Amino acid sequence: MKIFKNKTDLIAHVDQLKSEEKTLGFVPTMGALHQGHASLIIEGLKHNTSVVVSIFVNPTQFDNQEDLIKYPRTLDSDVALLKDISEERIIVYAPTVEDIYGAEVSSNSFSYDGLEHEMEGKFRDGHFDGVGTIVKRLFEIVRPDNSYFGEKDFQQLMIIKKLVEKYQIPVKVNGCKIYRAKDGLAMSSRNTRLKPEYRAAAPFIYKTLKTAKEKFGTKSANMVTEWVEKEFAKHELLELEYFIIADAKTLKTVKRKSNKKAYRAFIAVYADDIRLIDNIALN
Ligand code: PAF
Repeated sequence: MKIFKNKTDLIAHVDQLKSEEKTLGFVPTMGALHQGHASLIIEGLKHNTSVVVSIFVNPTQFDNQEDLIKYPRTLDSDVALLKDISEERIIVYAPTVEDIYGAEVSSNSFSYDGLEHEMEGKFRDGHFDGVGTIVKRLFEIVRPDNSYFGEKDFQQLMIIKKLVEKYQIPVKVNGCKIYRAKDGLAMSSRNTRLKPEYRAAAPFIYKTLKTAKEKFGTKSANMVTEWVEKEFAKHELLELEYFIIADAKTLKTVKRKSNKKAYRAFIAVYADDIRLIDNIALN
């Protein structure tokens, strides 16, 4: 498997592939790879000659320094997982902070037509500037034909589609279904840091989302939101940060339901000091 630690070598390799008219898929990650990432990579392999997987814990998208320090870094087991999928067709790019940012580790500022002001944007200061900065840089280095992002980070997916549209970056952005553990918990690199009792409690998040979806068939968005807030207020371990029912296109909180619009419910929950997010299509 080809593993590149610096962009100069990767760029030369991509130039070579492009001269051979090979198609390139791209799955950007922060490592601590799991089956959710594997499902994105497998999707990429179905539609491209090779798939580049970047492994880079991007400092500029963390609003919480402790979260950045504690974020799992597991390059050896990540490479082992990738080798099991395909030694020949996966290319790893695992750069240093310097390779990406040089001496100045800071993000550019982006406007995503208001998408950045909702949900995660309200609770994680500067997060989407950091995401935009890294994803744009990675797109410029990797120059993929197709890229793959999980719907678990649905707002991120929409923001990246907006970034590509605004900057006219020639890459297709594909959203892929949320990959869940058997008990329903959405796969996340953060799950490995959950203490056993919190891991056991965490499937409550998806269970509640599913019931909220059922209730949304007959009740107003406000009534469903109040019900979810009450469910979490009773819970002994999980603390709700937000539950929002939003227009799936604008991500604005729903005031009054319309039959013509698609809605989605979004949730952020603290399990001890680990922040988990999830979402579900409602109609
Ligand atoms: O979703 C993630 O893991 C990150 O936000 C991404 C897209 C790799 C950018 O650092």
